[in-house]
Amino acid sequence: MKKTVVIGCDHGGYELKLPILAYLAEEGYRVVDVGCDSTDSVNYPDYADKLCNVITSGKADIGILICGTGIGMSMAANKHPGIRAACCENTYSARMTRAHNDANVLCLGARVIGAGLAVDMVELFLNTDFLGGRHSTRVEMLNELDKR
Ligand code: RB5
Repeated sequence: MKKTVVIGCDHGGYELKLPILAYLAEEGYRVVDVGCDSTDSVNYPDYADKLCNVITSGKADIGILICGTGIGMSMAANKHPGIRAACCENTYSARMTRAHNDANVLCLGARVIGAGLAVDMVELFLNTDFLGGRHSTRVEMLNELDKR
């Protein structure tokens, strides 16, 4: 069965969310969209928080957050225990953060990358499995840091 993907953005990321939503629909993913829904100014921590709550409550498997740079969203998302958010700007990072870090949120910067690259990164992020093995030990260490 296809993953359930939760997606969120701020005003800076709204326009890049549209081609990503189109890709997800075309590929048959179930999608939870936590907003925002326009280019009117909002605060990215609110949308990172909404998205992370959907993942940590088990209502989605994986998430995509978009703001101007991807950085603010990744900072906000990584405040949530159990969330491993990666701000990526290229396909190699998008693939490797799944394979090695078991990242569960991809953060994208709409003012940094174009729609074609973003969709390729989303495709890789959603279709790359965590490698486990020695990487599991390190992800467990991240989980321990969450408890401090
Ligand atoms: C909004 O102008 C911008 O600060 C935000 O989208 C993001 O880039 C923050 O990290």
